[in-house]
Amino acid sequence: MDLFYGEGEGRDGSAAQRMAEIRAEVADTGTYTHTAAELTFGARVAWRNSNRCIGRLYWRSLRVRDRRSTRDAADIAAESVKHLTEAGGGGRIRPTITVFAPDRPGAPGPRFHNEQLIRYAGYTRPDGSVLGDPLNTGITELALRHGWRGGPGTRFDVLPLVIETQRDGIELFELPPEAVLEVELSHPRYPWFAGLGLRWHAVPVISAMDLEIGGVRYPAAPFNGWYMGTEIGARNFGDTERYDMLPVVASKMALDTSSDASLWRDRALVELNVAVLHSFARAGVKITDHHTEAKRFLTHVEREEEAGRSCPTDWSWIVPPISGSATLVFHRYYDEGDLRPNYLRRECPVTGQQHPAAHPAEDHPAPDGPQPPGGITG
Ligand code: ARG
Repeated sequence: MDLFYGEGEGRDGSAAQRMAEIRAEVADTGTYTHTAAELTFGARVAWRNSNRCIGRLYWRSLRVRDRRSTRDAADIAAESVKHLTEAGGGGRIRPTITVFAPDRPGAPGPRFHNEQLIRYAGYTRPDGSVLGDPLNTGITELALRHGWRGGPGTRFDVLPLVIETQRDGIELFELPPEAVLEVELSHPRYPWFAGLGLRWHAVPVISAMDLEIGGVRYPAAPFNGWYMGTEIGARNFGDTERYDMLPVVASKMALDTSSDASLWRDRALVELNVAVLHSFARAGVKITDHHTEAKRFLTHVEREEEAGRSCPTDWSWIVPPISGSATLVFHRYYDEGDLRPNYLRRECPVTGQQHPAAHPAEDHPAPDGPQPPGGITG
């Protein structure tokens, strides 16, 4: 409340008055209810405090959909579909969050088991190899155990929403295809690239992080920004634990893969990233590159300083996974810190998977560490 009133958001009354009200409500019910304005401010500041997000310049523009009274899993699924459509804007992507009911004493709020609203299945084959995205084998098995028939069997089968409510347990909902905006990848100079059959979804909607505001936890509060190309081109397609495309791209480029020192991986990485940025632009889907985003981020840090605030930042997440030293964010240190409100990572109780996947460079993954709307390398 100090933050809310201190930043001029409280229209009437004072932090002290509101705190008295809140204390009475907590004494009565064990929790309290945010006003719509408090919720909106809290969700935006949670983004501002996300120390792994390079995209925070626009934190004030986050659109907040207040759906705290939507309780049935089927209605939550329908609102999630609306979120995808509204936030996707046919390619004009808008940072958006939909907030469902909070946890209350003895009454946990609903939650998504999906790490993002749109994710591609990872089917483990008998020989241990994976068809699709190896990141998502846990949720894929969970969905199959709960009666999912499986998709058509491509590398890009969209998983159903896996929603758990206290009343009804786990339920599954297929996303209608028209809610899943996707971009097929091609390359401006390599005609063979399109033949790789790669595609990616346009809107990353993180759905398994708790939004925490003023001590209240919202376990179902899916939020999105737009993609930075390296998330897809470097990590999702380049990581050996993901789609592992570097050997394939390098061989199509006829690079010498017999020696690490030929830098074939690096050259393949760059062309993959060129393909991602080119394809999204051609499809009219908003995306950003790491040079642009690095500059914007430093503008954000400056603005925060001007406002008299510290901007908690995790260097190891802010520096992009390719060409780090060619971006401005590499060449300095940042304030550290773990502020609230924030988006908090939680472990999926069923799959045991950390959502979003922990940063590989993390020595001691804190189950409660803050996580970004724009978690860029996740
Ligand atoms: N890195 C994640 C992915 O590749 C998305 C994390 C959020 N990113 C964002 N630009 N808001 O799907």
